[in-house]
Amino acid sequence: MIHDDIRRVVLIGTGFVGMSYAYSMLNQGISDELVLIDIDHDKAEGEAMDLNHGMAFAPKNIKIWAGTYDDCESADIIVITAGANQKEGETRLDLVHKNKKIMKGIIGEIDKSGFNGILLIASNPVDVMTYVAYKESGLDKSKIIGSGTTLDSARLRYELSDYLNINSKNIHAYIIGEHGDSEFPIWSNASIGVKPLLDVINEHDEYKYEDLDQIYKDVRDAAYEIIKRKKATYYGIGMSLAQVTKAILNDSNSIYTISSLVDDYYGVTDLYIGIPCIINRSGVREIIKLNLTKSDQERFKKSANILKDMIKEIGY
Ligand code: 2OP
Repeated sequence: MIHDDIRRVVLIGTGFVGMSYAYSMLNQGISDELVLIDIDHDKAEGEAMDLNHGMAFAPKNIKIWAGTYDDCESADIIVITAGANQKEGETRLDLVHKNKKIMKGIIGEIDKSGFNGILLIASNPVDVMTYVAYKESGLDKSKIIGSGTTLDSARLRYELSDYLNINSKNIHAYIIGEHGDSEFPIWSNASIGVKPLLDVINEHDEYKYEDLDQIYKDVRDAAYEIIKRKKATYYGIGMSLAQVTKAILNDSNSIYTISSLVDDYYGVTDLYIGIPCIINRSGVREIIKLNLTKSDQERFKKSANILKDMIKEIGY
């Protein structure tokens, strides 16, 4: 339930991703309250103090404190970023066993609190962790959202914007599937303002289809490249989570490629996977049925199968 008066967001996990999210929340004044929960309570306290010291420069006052699971009951949204993160040379799927245990524990605590709002999950591998949350929690599927390929689609928009020299706000291009190695762009559904992307490429001699392939690979491998250089990624995902939070709290009916539970989506059922969805204060309002080419349908099924295998491996 979204409370009309005081909008409370609880963040579980005050690592780099969680705190980049919290910093975005404060800088954009997205909620009225922000509760920080961490297994290391001192860390959460220190983070709350540090953020509070910037309040004089924030667009509005947000009540920020280091809390406990008792603070979850009246929350509108709980964002989970807790979990081990991806190390160099490790895929997101390597994390699955470690993070399943952590996720189960957290969901148990949240359920005990009586929380009935929207869960937004970012812990990796995010599609699998969102499925774990769905299986372990009593909440309706529409209220459980994974960050999915929201960040990957943002990375794609950035890369295309750079390539075409067009503002990324006018670039409507999406990455779908697993948030991981089998994700892929749906070029036939991409547009630059009013024009299909593939027409734009076709009509300009300076643009080449092969370049699109390189752009896709750069997006797919972006996390590896960043981790190689700075050991972790956090600003991009932090801003993506803040954006999704804003869409929910403001009831904005915005479209993001979140991870959502599909039912016969090109034959894929009972799986959390990144696809474009309309989101608002009730969570997922609608999963958008895409018109996929034959080869994109195949890629989608392949990506789904990789996730299905992972889910089986952890006993669901
Ligand atoms: C990212 O894509 C590692 O999932 C994280 O930046």
